Amino acid sequence: MAEELKISEGGKEEKYALLYAQIKSVVSCEDVIIANMANVAAMIHHTFGFWWTGFYRVEGDILLLGPFQGPLACTRISRGRGVCGTAWLERRTIVVPDVEAFPGHIACSSASRSEIVVPLFAADGAVRAVLDIDSEHLAMFDAVDELWLERIVKLL
Ligand code: SME
Repeated sequence: MAEELKISEGGKEEKYALLYAQIKSVVSCEDVIIANMANVAAMIHHTFGFWWTGFYRVEGDILLLGPFQGPLACTRISRGRGVCGTAWLERRTIVVPDVEAFPGHIACSSASRSEIVVPLFAADGAVRAVLDIDSEHLAMFDAVDELWLERIVKLL
């Protein structure tokens, strides 16, 4: 049992290490961030088979839907609202093992059960966007996802 767990954790680390190298190479060929966000969302999404993977970009006082993979999503999120708006306000990654237990969670899809939201910082320290990933499984995300997704968004 413990060994099984170790193997599957190892698998996730390896996938992230390879994905990180691929993303680094892909984004080094392009300067326009929205184009890079589109490819990063696609690469993460198809590596892990998540339910929804995408970006919300800060536009004034809201988060506006950016490039994503998965079913349609709400287009505007206020600062402090939902998981995305809270990650923006608190300037930190938020891992939600059960979305129903997160007060104010915005249910774009009833299939979403757990999620992780990672902020992207501009050079001046302001949050410029968030990466939002949803899973249809409970407790899909852990410290391994947090570590690698934070590394990945720093490439943008
Ligand atoms: N889950 C988000 C809303 C966006 S959709 O899930 C794509 C939230 O509560 O912030």
